[in-house]
Amino acid sequence: MRKLVFQTVIVIFALTAGLGCRNENKPMRDKDNNDRKWWKEAVVYQIYPRSFKDANGDGVGDLKGIISKLDYIKSLGVTAVWLNPIYSSPNDDNGYDVSDYRNIMKDFGTMDDFDALLKGLHERNIKLVMDLVVNHSSDEHKWFKQSRSSHTSPYRDYYHWWNAERGTPPARYSLFDVNHDAWRYDSLTKAYYLHYFSRKQPDLNWENPKLRQEVYNIMKFWADKGIDGFRLDAFGFAAKDTTWPVYPKGYEKEFSKYYAIQGHLHDYLKEMNSEVLSKYDVMSVAEGTGNTYKDAHDMVDADRNELNMAYPFEGVDIPKIGGYSLMHFKQVFSKWDSVFAKKGWLSVFLANHDQARMVSRFGSDDPKYRDLSSKMLTTFIMTMRGTPYYYNGDELAMTNAGFTDINDYRDKATLNEYQHQKNIGGNMQEFMKGLAFSCRDNGRTPFQWDESTNSGFTTATPWIKVNSNYKTINAAAQEKDPNSTLNYFRRAVKLRKDNLVLVYGKYTLLDKNNLDVYSYTRELDGKKLLVLLNFKNYAATAATGLNLGKAKVLLGNYSDPSKNGTLLPYEAVVYELQ
Ligand code: NOJ
Repeated sequence: MRKLVFQTVIVIFALTAGLGCRNENKPMRDKDNNDRKWWKEAVVYQIYPRSFKDANGDGVGDLKGIISKLDYIKSLGVTAVWLNPIYSSPNDDNGYDVSDYRNIMKDFGTMDDFDALLKGLHERNIKLVMDLVVNHSSDEHKWFKQSRSSHTSPYRDYYHWWNAERGTPPARYSLFDVNHDAWRYDSLTKAYYLHYFSRKQPDLNWENPKLRQEVYNIMKFWADKGIDGFRLDAFGFAAKDTTWPVYPKGYEKEFSKYYAIQGHLHDYLKEMNSEVLSKYDVMSVAEGTGNTYKDAHDMVDADRNELNMAYPFEGVDIPKIGGYSLMHFKQVFSKWDSVFAKKGWLSVFLANHDQARMVSRFGSDDPKYRDLSSKMLTTFIMTMRGTPYYYNGDELAMTNAGFTDINDYRDKATLNEYQHQKNIGGNMQEFMKGLAFSCRDNGRTPFQWDESTNSGFTTATPWIKVNSNYKTINAAAQEKDPNSTLNYFRRAVKLRKDNLVLVYGKYTLLDKNNLDVYSYTRELDGKKLLVLLNFKNYAATAATGLNLGKAKVLLGNYSDPSKNGTLLPYEAVVYELQ
């Protein structure tokens, strides 16, 4: 159990458990998925603002830093940026604890900087998607300060309170708390408040219509500014069973089953859609997908008028220390594709700010294979159906920093879990090994711009150490090399943008029992592309039964791409079949 809880915290957002349920038996219509939408055709580049570029020399990335790199972002060919939270925050969880939803975090700059950033992106035809963190706020938000001040505060019901005179509340698991206890006693009013994440992230009460209106107004504020979408943070948890039942012993091992998609969640999403989303040309993506395929699908089924894109975690949960099986990988991605084949829309990604680095987890960060395996994974992301999300730095094949000293870690959730493990006498050696492989701080080290001090990220001491390999892995060096992962990423993005078949085309898995090579076709309106990906560091052969004699190579990560299905280590090839 200790191990399980530990893994849960490391993976943190493996909230999609229990995927046994197939889609409903209702007849499918083709309408939805062939219906062209900008957000289906988008290539999303995720920017973690804290680590991207520091313009004011305080060691923390900021909006002016991003502005200074707009031409770089444009040069990637991406068409949308997802920015992690930039709102005012005391930073207990790097901005996922918002203290003012209508203001910019001091570390990041001002509203003028934001307006300039939005303008700069739009001038370059790049959309902006913002995080919306409304399962919880910061405990330093004025709503919470009011709420905790008295039982009769008009804000009391903006949060979930349990009066101590009723005894102790039924246990609830917290992902980030040192004691994993999601109830925190507040002596001021002698009551406990609920926090699924850290103590400084009290959960908002979505049953309160006033709170819901506040959120919709916040959304309108940003949509009126002209942003192009919202990524709903942890929203699957927003609705709670407020009869507060006692959960069975061991529930914490599968807490998602009890937390995700409860009660009126779909009603809230429908309301949000009719009050805000439907009034703007914005995309909406929900982090996490609930417990079943049906849960995932229901949130984004166009006929239900809720959100428009699912973001399932099952894929990023695959890698473990010691490796993973390609069969498992194929099964997961093929299954998700099949559920969303006709209706509903998926995101495709292998990394984000809650994960360690893509190449270290899914490929190989051994210098011999790093670039090849990174390009192979990039090929996968850019050739699957669903909107690709690509995490900043992965275009350089940035690797895990793999810190071995706890003092190098910054993530509060990790530091709390470290303390928790110490308190319960956990195996600290194993714990540290786990962090070096999976901790999300691995994905948050500063962007490696060049080989100057601190990788050109900052002139000050960076808020988190720069990966020591920045002199070898950096954007400046890769700009000069036509075969760099950076330039390969640009080619892969262009390929996707030039081929609608990669967006809307039917996906068919081939040679499904091949342990080494992932092969699939994408087909649309008579056009057929074949993708071959060798996931191994040895040569392997794809047995697709297709004749590659006349096939045209559209993209490959070797100078002389395979013409017969036998692939070199980590080889990736995209062909157009004649
Ligand atoms: C999900 C976010 O991606 C993660 O970074 C954050 O810690 C939690 N939600 C809590 O907001």
